[in-house]
Amino acid sequence: MNAKTAHLMRWWFIFIACLAPLPYIVYRLVVNNLGAEPAKALVEFLGKTSLIVLFVTLAVTPLSKFKVLPSFVKYRRMLGLSVFFYACLHVLSYGMFLVDWRNFIEDLYQRPYVIVGALAFLILLALAVTSPRAAIKKLGKKWKRLHRWVYLATFLVVVHVYWQLRADYFEALVYFTILVALMSFRLDVLLAWKSKVINK
Ligand code: HEM
Repeated sequence: MNAKTAHLMRWWFIFIACLAPLPYIVYRLVVNNLGAEPAKALVEFLGKTSLIVLFVTLAVTPLSKFKVLPSFVKYRRMLGLSVFFYACLHVLSYGMFLVDWRNFIEDLYQRPYVIVGALAFLILLALAVTSPRAAIKKLGKKWKRLHRWVYLATFLVVVHVYWQLRADYFEALVYFTILVALMSFRLDVLLAWKSKVINK
């Protein structure tokens, strides 16, 4: 198989994998298989999907350093945009089915975890807007600095999840552990870079 075909196959594989949760949840919605509170289940599913794809996106670079799926580095933008896509659907379904948009601001005050989610969403929005090649070129070095904010966004999402739990913090603990593991790898890179600079 030549390189172009391999690239196309990988592109389609990742594209379909990123889109797959959507027909799955729509199907469950249509056949009324989302439990007693379908709206809540839908919002939760979309939020969870966004967070899981976010973790996968953050894991691509560390994995590539260990020679695991190194070619996936090229598709980080598609993964990142999928994170944003599901985050948009999560927020939209929340606004459409769980609250009245007119009460949105009031809701922000009543539920602090929503404010934290909204902050994370704003960061993801900034990252999505600056993802085209033209923006990368225009922002130069600033682009990398801006895109490191993805870790803050992930942290805020984990807090967003933790804050809304009333019991059984296991889920938040799992997310937090994954985030720490992903960040520690980046710290490692940072320290290695720092010692290189010092030893020069
Ligand atoms: C304006 C922004 C946001 C709003 C208004 C919002 C709203 C909500 C609400 C109301 C819930 C609880 C649903 C329920 O169980 O009743 C929730 C849960 C959740 N949200 Fe968000 N969210 C926002 C941003 C985000 C973002 C950016 C992400 C991920 C990238 C995210 C991921 C999650 C996750 C993982 C859950 C927990 C689902 C579960 O219970 O397992 N949220 N969000």
